[in-house]
Amino acid sequence: MMRPPGHPISVSEFEADVRAGLSKPGQKELYSKYFYDDLGSALFEAITLLPEYGLTRADLRLLREHAHELPERAGYPSVVVELGSGSGDKAREIIPYLAAGHPITYCPIDLSGAALSRCQRDLDDIRNIKIVPIEDSYVEGLASASKFRKPGGAILALFLGSSIGNFEPPVAQAFLSTVRENLQPGDVFLLSADLVKPFDRMLAGYNDSLGLTSAFNLNLLARINRELGASFDLNKFQHEARYNESEQRIEMHLRSRTEQTISVNGNFTVELQEGETIWTESSYKFLPDQVRAIAEPAGFRCEIQWVDSEWPFAQSLLRVR
Ligand code: AVJ
Repeated sequence: MMRPPGHPISVSEFEADVRAGLSKPGQKELYSKYFYDDLGSALFEAITLLPEYGLTRADLRLLREHAHELPERAGYPSVVVELGSGSGDKAREIIPYLAAGHPITYCPIDLSGAALSRCQRDLDDIRNIKIVPIEDSYVEGLASASKFRKPGGAILALFLGSSIGNFEPPVAQAFLSTVRENLQPGDVFLLSADLVKPFDRMLAGYNDSLGLTSAFNLNLLARINRELGASFDLNKFQHEARYNESEQRIEMHLRSRTEQTISVNGNFTVELQEGETIWTESSYKFLPDQVRAIAEPAGFRCEIQWVDSEWPFAQSLLRVR
């Protein structure tokens, strides 16, 4: 979907997006950013604990292994900005090293106020840290956070979890350019990306046997029912995850089990054929060089890449040129 990430969310915008996505001729679609209401965020956090979903553990392992290198590599930053902080457990691995030398301002940016409160509570015991939660989209949040820069001090921006994988490649490229524009030479951007691996391993993470990913996917329809007064019957949809090899991405879909007509709050109706799908997410997988190839034209120099040995996953340390 060619849409700038992290766009502000209001009910009317949600409704307009749902309407546009479900009235597309051909493949119907919904934006994956709408997965993350309070219930969807909780389901996602549970997914990160699944044995089949190795991605988050790989991210944490890399941080545990390399966080001690960050102060020097990132120019002893005084401000740490995390785009999409969630619960803050990744920041917990990093901040103590950075705050050992001097006070740190940590700005978690998230659209979920609940996630920000949890993050603040979780990290409050770290010494030398001032937490400034910012409830906003990535780019607006980054612009606000950069106001806390100390004169002459560097900023370390974090975009972890391979959330970059949700963006279509041109959008990812444009997003990195925008991040770059909101930083200054000498600042550092740590970017996580899940790597291409054998198909069955990639797919298992999105077809877990407990059915959490199915619930996460179906919750999007449940959310539309709750917030927009729609009449989706969740039993009439089947979760599906497939790997699109030529696009190098996992796709999640919701497949209609029958021919059906759904009403959204009396405002519009959606017709689905038996077997037709609604495409709900793309999760791009990368080769390490592909991360460099999108970061460098955006104005970054890739200083080092760390790759996890158990679950192919990369963190790229990008320096603003
Ligand atoms: C948070 C976007 C990285 O794509 O793996 C998890 C979201 N979707 N299970 C991913 C997700 C289905 C996740 N990201």
